[in-house]
Amino acid sequence: MISLNIQQKSIIKFLKLSNKLKIQYLNYYISISFRQVLYFLTGFIPKLNLKIKNVTYGKKLLIIGGIILDIFPESKVIIKDNVSIISDPKRCSASTLYSKTKLKTFSPSSTIIIGEGTGLNGTSITSRSKKITIGKNCMFAPNTIIVDSDFHIPWPPKNRNIYLGCERDNDIIIGDNCWVGMNTIILKGVKIGENSVIGAGSIVNKDIPPNSLAAGNPAKIIKQYIN
Ligand SMILES: CC(C)(COP(=O)(O)OP(=O)(O)OC[C@H]1O[C@@H](n2cnc3c(N)ncnc32)[C@H](O)[C@@H]1OP(=O)(O)O)[C@@H](O)C(=O)NCCC(=O)NCCS
Repeated sequence: MISLNIQQKSIIKFLKLSNKLKIQYLNYYISISFRQVLYFLTGFIPKLNLKIKNVTYGKKLLIIGGIILDIFPESKVIIKDNVSIISDPKRCSASTLYSKTKLKTFSPSSTIIIGEGTGLNGTSITSRSKKITIGKNCMFAPNTIIVDSDFHIPWPPKNRNIYLGCERDNDIIIGDNCWVGMNTIILKGVKIGENSVIGAGSIVNKDIPPNSLAAGNPAKIIKQYIN
């Protein structure tokens, strides 16, 4: 039989006691409440940033953990009512590892519209010159990237850094009630129809019809949901 010294015995005693008192639960709920208070007290800072950068936002905007904003003058960013923007690795079911939600526009013609009730969680949206429209009540799981441009032309290689190929940029439209899984990339010119689901880790480079499940690289339609 192993003999324990006084120190070890007291540690075991403490663990048994804390188990009895459900200390872990207490600790968990205290840390959650502490974060809620912190968000409540600091919530005005990102909203101030939105105002300074001329971003229009609607009622009941929830921002948790800040937002990276890189907004070109005269470009348009519109966030409708009841949108939630999450950038906190401790928030949400599938929390982001590191990403903050980011909105970036590069030119006066860049436009980003985020529909009513939509939730962004560690989502990066970049409009170089076109319009990115996200519908109502969409859900974006962590680390999704949405971008209307390739930023370089593929060919010839000598021109890649000189000629930026803005004419290849294209609008992106994501319909109402879409659910986009973790680590998805949505490329230029794509339309995702309403109610569709994009599986985790997908790369969407072609249109996805409404009411579909699409997944993979490149994303393919796996099934059509029927009510
Ligand atoms: C999209 C998702 C919800 C679909 O789940 P489901 O309805 O149970 O679908 P299934 O697992 O039955 O898959 C159906 C088919 O799609 C394929 N598939 C599903 N998700 C896929 C993915 N992410 N990539 C590639 N293929 C995928 C399956 O392999 C299966 O193919 P098969 O019929 O040839 O075997 C799920 O796969 C997913 O991506 N979950 C992650 C969601 C997420 O990011 N949550 C974060 C919290 S918001």
